[in-house]
Amino acid sequence: MENIAPALLDWFYKNRRSLPFREDPTPYHVWLSEIMLQQTRVAAALPYYRRFLAELPDIPALAQCPEEKLHKLWEGLGYYSRVRNLQKAAQLLCERYGGQLPADYDALRQLPGIGNYTAGAIASISFGLPVPAVDGNVLRVFARLYNDPRMVTEPATKRAFTARVMEHQPPAAPGDYNQALMELGALVCLPGGAPLCEQCPLASLCQGRAAGTAEQLPQKAAPKPRKQVPVTVALVESPAGFLLQQRPEKGLLAGLWQPVLWEGEALAPTQVCARLTAAGLDTAGAEAVPLAAAKHIFSHIQWQMGGAALKVPAQPAPTGWVWASREQLQTVYTLPGAFRVYKKQMLEESLAR
Ligand code: ADE
Repeated sequence: MENIAPALLDWFYKNRRSLPFREDPTPYHVWLSEIMLQQTRVAAALPYYRRFLAELPDIPALAQCPEEKLHKLWEGLGYYSRVRNLQKAAQLLCERYGGQLPADYDALRQLPGIGNYTAGAIASISFGLPVPAVDGNVLRVFARLYNDPRMVTEPATKRAFTARVMEHQPPAAPGDYNQALMELGALVCLPGGAPLCEQCPLASLCQGRAAGTAEQLPQKAAPKPRKQVPVTVALVESPAGFLLQQRPEKGLLAGLWQPVLWEGEALAPTQVCARLTAAGLDTAGAEAVPLAAAKHIFSHIQWQMGGAALKVPAQPAPTGWVWASREQLQTVYTLPGAFRVYKKQMLEESLAR
C-alpha cells in the first residue's frame, strides 16, 4: 500500500483536467471553486465560475456586492445559502484578516459555509499545508481500495478513512495528492457501480477490485424519505407585470423572490382569489385559471406545487410585494429554480399581452 501516493501522483500529473482554478490556485479561487463544486458538476460550474470572478475578482468585491447582484450571479446553481455564506465569510475576512483567507486550517473551519472538506482543500491546495480534504469522491476511492464495508455516512467511518488518507499523504505535495484522489474519483473510480478499473493507476493495489466488491462500495445509509410539502402558487398579472414577494431572510431559499405563494397548503383557484383579496388586492372580475402541477426536490423536502393564474386591474402592490415587469424578471429578481416552469409561463404570457 506504500505505493499508493507515487502511482496516484504520476497518474494525476499525466491525466488531470486543466481547470481555471488549477491554473491559478489562489485561496479565493480555490474557495469559490470548491463551494460551487459541492453540488454542481465541473462542466456546469465553469461558466458560473468565470462570470463570478469577472464581476467579483477579489474578497473585498464579494463582501460589498449588493444582494440582488449576488443572487443573479448564482442563478441556476441552486443551494443559494452557499453564496450567502460566501459573502458572510468575505465580510468577516475583511473585518478580521485584511480581506484575505488565513493560511490556517482551524481558522478556515470557523468561517461560514467552510467545513472540514473546504478548509482542507484551501489549506492544502493553496497554502501547501499537510491537511486532509475528504469529499465523497475520496471516501469512495478509499472504501474500494481497502475493501472497507463500513458506512461512509457515519462520522466514525469518515474519521477512520481520513486517518488512512493522511497515512499516504506525501509531505511535499499535500494539495496535489488531495486533488489527485478527487480527480481519480471523478474520472476513474466512478460512482453508481461503474468504475473504470482498467484505467486505474491503483488497480493492482485495490482490495475491492481483487475481492470483486468494488462496484458495491461504498456502503451508505439509505437516505431519509423527503417530507412532502404542498405549495400553492399565484401568478398574478396586472398591466405593471407580475406580483412577487421576497422570501424571509432565514431558512429555505432565504432572500430570494417568488410569485405570491402559500407553503403547506394546496388551495383551489377560488381560495387563491379569496386569499389575495384578504391580502388587500383588488381581484374584481378576475378569472383564476388552474396552474399545471410541478414538483421540486430540495435536499430534505419536496414541494408539490399547483395554484392559479389570474389577471387583475392596475393597482399598487400590497405592502412587501412588488410588480415585476418581464424585463425585471430577467435582470433584477432572482427566482429559484423551483419556479422554472412558472417563470417560463410568466415570460410567455406577458409576451402575448
Ligand atoms: N471536485 C471538487 N473539487 C475538486 C477538485 N479540486 N478537483 C477535482 N474534482 C473536484
